Amino acid sequence: MQALRDAARAAAAQAYCPYSQFHVGAAVLAEGKIYAGCNVENASYGLTICAERNAIFSAVAAGARRIQALALACVDAAADAPAASRMPCGACRQVIAEFAAADMPVYVDGVGDLTVADLLPNAFRL
Ligand code: THU
Repeated sequence: MQALRDAARAAAAQAYCPYSQFHVGAAVLAEGKIYAGCNVENASYGLTICAERNAIFSAVAAGARRIQALALACVDAAADAPAASRMPCGACRQVIAEFAAADMPVYVDGVGDLTVADLLPNAFRL
């Protein structure tokens, strides 16, 4: 879905990343609406939150409980950088799995179309 990819790229422009200078944007589709998020860093590095979690939590805060698709854009990854530099971190993979079906599409800019199960097989669930 092109609109979701565009929203992820646009959200990266809002990233607060004075420490890494690595702008990340994410967007999720939930109940027909697009919710975007960017990474927000902190001087206490561990408090940083990723773009994917900000986008998902924004959707959940608006009342959504399931997401239908996610797009991620690590716009500062160099063109010749390995795919790993564009992929969701482990924490975000677990959060994505909380709100998404295993076959939900995850579009990773510069990598391609994946699913939740590709990113996190055998996800922990309660
Ligand atoms: N980052 C994300 O926003 N999402 C990810 O899945 C990986 C990493 C951010 C966190 C930090 O602000 C910067 O990228 C460098 O790690």
